[in-house]
Amino acid sequence: MKVGIVGAGMVGSSAGYALALMGIVSDIVLVDRNAALAIAQAEDISHAVPFMSATSVLAGDYADLAGAGVVILAAGVSQKPGESRLELLERNAAVFREVVGEVLRVAPDAILLIATNPVDIMTQVATRLCGLPPQRVIGSGTILDSARFRSLIGCHLGISPQSVHAYVLGEHGDSEVLGWSNARAGSVSLRSFAEQIGSPLTDHVRQSIDDGVRNAAYKIINGKGATYYGIGAGLARIVKAIAQDQRDVLSVSIVTPHIVDVTDVALSVPRIVGAEGVIADLIPELDVGEYAALGRSAALLKERVESIAL
Ligand code: 2OP
Repeated sequence: MKVGIVGAGMVGSSAGYALALMGIVSDIVLVDRNAALAIAQAEDISHAVPFMSATSVLAGDYADLAGAGVVILAAGVSQKPGESRLELLERNAAVFREVVGEVLRVAPDAILLIATNPVDIMTQVATRLCGLPPQRVIGSGTILDSARFRSLIGCHLGISPQSVHAYVLGEHGDSEVLGWSNARAGSVSLRSFAEQIGSPLTDHVRQSIDDGVRNAAYKIINGKGATYYGIGAGLARIVKAIAQDQRDVLSVSIVTPHIVDVTDVALSVPRIVGAEGVIADLIPELDVGEYAALGRSAALLKERVESIAL
């Protein structure tokens, strides 16, 4: 499979780097309006390839995206210290008005994978602009927040994050909802597992994990200006599910017909992802507080998306 990446900044190029190391696609094409940046990133990534895989990594223009199975949209501006993801909306919507048509003109059969923030709203903007079925316009959503959640739970329990089954729902942003009530470690409920090993999930532990997940990006941006390795690997993980028709359960964002009391809004719940994009949504069982918080997150996103004229 050929994968196109539009936007060769740190997020797009980190996704390209992760994909090149994984060796799961044949070709990666980086496109950026700063052609010199795309060329430099592609060349740098291609120098890692001989150590790990045989993926071709090149810079190109939109025409070179022809035949791509997936196109990652990572173009646009990113958060500055203290700025929320939602504050990027107007600027990045303007970028998408240019980019989405160009991509679809040359790669009409591609699945679009949206990384630009605020990712849920940008996913909804891209869905409206391209007219593809929502299942083929996938935002990275909370895939990264779920990874952060699993990692912190794994650390508390002293087990691999890969043995933790836990999802962050709703907005990839301040209103996101950590799904504590249905989280599991192996096949055991999180609460029971934590008690069995003598590391109970006290209010203090939960609060500290919540803070670590919800505020991870702010902390990283304060320290180094941007986040990119985590999301780069998350994007590569979604591409893998599509390229290998893996039917993985991943928390990703697509326009969802109905969630709590909100209709037609892009946000994350666990979904089955395979060659055709999103194959099914899996609405988890939530406790009363989580359900209400998911409704608030959906309502907030819906209000913001309605404020964008296309
Ligand atoms: C992140 O969560 C900034 O959305 C980006 O790392």
